[in-house]
This record gives sequence, C-alpha cells and structure tokens, in this order.
Amino acid sequence: MRPYIPGKPLVEVKEELGLTEVVKLASNECPLELPGLVLETILKQATDLTRYPDGNCRILGRELASRLGLQTDCLLFGNGAEECIRLVAQAFLNQGDQAIIPKPIFDAYETATILCGAEPVMVPLIGYDIDLKSISAKVTEKTKLIWLCNPANPTATVFNKEAFDRFLAELPENIVVVLDEAYYEFVTDKNCPHTEHYLFKDDRVIGLRTFSKAYGLAGLRVGYIMAHPEVIKLIAKVKLPFNVNVAAQAAALALLREENFAKGHVELICRERERVARSLAENGLKSPVSQTNFLFVRLPGSGDEVFRELMPKGFIVRPGSIFGMPDHIRLSLGSEDQNDGFLKALDEALN
Ligand SMILES: Cc1ncc(COP(=O)(O)O)c(C=O)c1O
Repeated sequence: MRPYIPGKPLVEVKEELGLTEVVKLASNECPLELPGLVLETILKQATDLTRYPDGNCRILGRELASRLGLQTDCLLFGNGAEECIRLVAQAFLNQGDQAIIPKPIFDAYETATILCGAEPVMVPLIGYDIDLKSISAKVTEKTKLIWLCNPANPTATVFNKEAFDRFLAELPENIVVVLDEAYYEFVTDKNCPHTEHYLFKDDRVIGLRTFSKAYGLAGLRVGYIMAHPEVIKLIAKVKLPFNVNVAAQAAALALLREENFAKGHVELICRERERVARSLAENGLKSPVSQTNFLFVRLPGSGDEVFRELMPKGFIVRPGSIFGMPDHIRLSLGSEDQNDGFLKALDEALN
C-alpha cells in the first residue's frame, strides 16, 4: 500500500520558505473563517469534555435529518467522510471480494478496499468523466461494491441522473454502490443524481457527505453516511462507539443552525469558479466544468514544475502527477483576493 500524501501544512511551507503569507489551495478547504457563534458554541461545550460524546450524534442527527427530509435512522456519522469510507468497506468487503473504483479518484477507496483484504479493480476515466459503462463491464461474480465519487475528485465533473439510473438498472442486485457526495452542496447541475432520491427505491445506494467542505469544518472531522435504515444497521456494527467527538458534534450542529455561513461560502465559490475558469481560459488554460470547490487545470507543461514555481510565491496547489495526470494541477478555489493572487502568480510561473 502507498501512504496517503497530504497537502503540505501551512506552517511547514512557511518555515521551509521563510514566508509569512502562504495561501493553501491544495486540499479543497473553505477559505473563510468560521463564524464567531460556532467558536462560542464549541467553547460552551468544553464543560462537557469530561464525558464521552453521544455515540449516535442524536441531536445533530435530528437537525440534519429534518433538513434532508429523512428519518434519523437513515444517517450514521463518522470522523469525516474518510471514516465513513472505512466503515462501509469494513461492513461489506471480505477477503477475495472485488471492489470497482474509477481512476484517478480520491484515493481513500482503494486504501479501504485493500485494508479489508479485497481486490480493487481500477477503471480509467474517459477524458475527465467517470466511465459508468466500462465500470458495468468490469462486474464479475466477485464484485461486492462499486465506489463512485460524484462530483469526482480530482476532475470536478459529474455524471447525470439518466446515466446513473441506466447503470443501476443493469447492475446485479447484490452489489453495493457508494455515491461519495463530499462536494454535493457546490453542485448546480440540475441533472446530477442525489442519494436522497434513491434510499427507499434502491437500497444498494449508499451516500457519503461531509461537513469539511461547504460547512468549512475540515479540522474537526464530521462526515455522514446516508442509507436505507437496514443498511445503516449493518454499518453501525463496525463503528467505534464514540467516533465523533463532543466539539465536532457541537460545531456541526451550530453550522447547520447558522446556515447562512455555508450558503454564503457556497455562493462565493460558485461565483469564483466561473470567474477563475474564465480567466484561465482567456489565457488558453482549459479545465473541465467544475461542480465542486476546485478546478482541474490543464497546463502546457509539467504540473510538478508549476507547483514548484508557485510555492515560493506563496501558493500551494496539488500537482496532477499525484493523480497520474502530470500536465494538470488541481486548484482549490479561495477568496477573491486569493484567487487574484494565484492567477497573477500562475501567469508569472508560466512565463
Ligand atoms: C471525494 C472526497 N470524499 C471524501 C473526502 C474526505 O472528507 P472528510 O474531510 O469528511 O474526511 C474528500 C476530501 O477531500 C473528498 O475529496
């Protein structure tokens, strides 16, 4: 197994390069600071830190379920969507099973599959898109699970509802399909399928979402699984009893109640992704239409080189070589000022 290569932490880059200002556009995080109310709520909860958290996140679950129009028994919370990925793998994959994974994609699916002793079967993207037809063609008697990421990371694209419905119709009944919707809140394409629509029509579909992206809570780690209640019961068997800590639950709840923060953040990102994509295109740099908080940008040369040139200018991006697409970079969208600074730095780097 290959270890996960995280984006460089800000302190490390600042120390290495002797910079005081560094803008990290490498891990698809929220560029805004959390509202004061959320921080106050976390501090208030500090009085409860001598107690274990509610292992079932009941209050958070009720608030979220009512917003999603679901019952609480359709939800299970995890220490970020990453833990949710591990839980689904542990619940469904055994030695000798196969799990199909598009490639390149968020690498947690492959790791979770291997950790359970199952075999990852990788299916290349077509261009920038997940190739549902080729995935169907790879199904064997050993296939237990299919990992899908919609919108996809790193390419930022979505498949549509029609294609997904066709895919499900052709799939054997015993195969679980994971729809990782970590970037769900940034989707503006009306034809994009969403987990809520499938839960009671097709209990093979398991959705994953997170508070790390639109809600800006990556540091506290809250993600959740959406599935049919009977499926949730199976996954709950492998969950650690107190996997989401007190502060994380309190912060996620406060952010749901203070929904203007996430709303404003998503509006900013959707506005900026159009503006930045347009500005890049004017300079001959193309990126597939993004439904996320990042852009996957094709360069005239090496992404590694551009990554190295941008770093001393105070900008960290993700080089495409990590995803096997070395003439690309993945760029998280920042605030207007950060994006302007990035565009200028990129221009200098390319020249
Ligand atoms: C597709 C996808 N799923 C899951 C995650 C992990 O989310 P979390 O921070 O909730 O673990 C990420 C993070 O970048 C992601 O891109």
